[in-house]
Amino acid sequence: MEKLTEENSLEAKDLENDSIGQECKELISTLPLEKSWIFNQCHQYQGFWIVTKNLQGLLSCQKHFQTLDTDILLATAPKSGTTWLKALTFALLNRHKYHSKNHPLLTSNPHSLVPYLEHLYLDKDVVPNLNSLSPPRLFSTHVPYESVPKSMKESTCKVVYLSRDPKDMFVSLWHFTNKIRAQQSRGTVPLEEVFESFCKGVSPFGPFWEHVLGYWKESLERPEKVMFIKFEEIKIKPTFYLKMIAEFLGFPFSNDEESKGVVDDILNLCSFEMLSNLEVNKTGTSVPITGIENKAFFRRGEVGDWKNHLTPEMSERLNTIIKQKLGKYGLSF
Ligand code: A3P
Repeated sequence: MEKLTEENSLEAKDLENDSIGQECKELISTLPLEKSWIFNQCHQYQGFWIVTKNLQGLLSCQKHFQTLDTDILLATAPKSGTTWLKALTFALLNRHKYHSKNHPLLTSNPHSLVPYLEHLYLDKDVVPNLNSLSPPRLFSTHVPYESVPKSMKESTCKVVYLSRDPKDMFVSLWHFTNKIRAQQSRGTVPLEEVFESFCKGVSPFGPFWEHVLGYWKESLERPEKVMFIKFEEIKIKPTFYLKMIAEFLGFPFSNDEESKGVVDDILNLCSFEMLSNLEVNKTGTSVPITGIENKAFFRRGEVGDWKNHLTPEMSERLNTIIKQKLGKYGLSF
């Protein structure tokens, strides 16, 4: 009873927010509701859990965003390496424009350079004018493939989906959650509590397995449109994957560029060590919905940190879920 009362009051608080439109409020009243890890509450929309502000952004984006065939979308579930992918793609697309000394990545966080599509539409009263952006326009999203704007699915625009071992992704998300909660003076949540939610599918833009599957299936059906890669693979063969992304997007590196070390320069510029030590990434904020400090997007950037946090039982439980949900589609981590 106490939980219900708390949730009801949290819901009321979220819906009082001036940036939530009437249409969104009415829709919310019909959707299943859960407590969010980070914010007050989340709603199950088109099968996925999404917080109120993001839902407003998504509805508006689905309604107003007009895709160009030249657009590029970087899609990820939160904590899969979005920041890294944004940096790499921004650097490769702009490699003829900027030199190492004046590169925007040295003074701006990757999230400032590549906006989340759904965040562009957070204000219910403002439809952003994206026509002035020069092609290829580069956007990112945490939205599942099921929910991306219709025009995006129908166009020939390219989508790069970066996935990550759900065990590492979960641990990263737990750390991130507590960083934001601490910033909001909301106290921390125990790992065990959010682990239960994660396994039930209730996590930001979860269930994680459905998120991964949506893009995975599309990458099998339309490989020219959706490229599906894994954080762990880029870690092992960064040169190979950066070249593969460049080719997929239609901006391959020339032999001359390769021999001049352009690929290595981009990898170095976007490396965890380089980005996490820049002044801009130690201070300031970039993502409007969270107001979180840039430094929160850089923790360890490694593969296998889950071993330091999950018990053998937790690991086994996640392995079983991954196998059950993804195995039959030929996907494993
Ligand atoms: P950890 O918490 O495991 O360290 P996202 O960018 O999707 O929010 O994901 C954040 C995760 O990516 C964090 O993982 C973060 O440390 C890692 N990360 C950020 N920048 C990176 C980079 N340049 N190279 C590798 N990992 C990076």
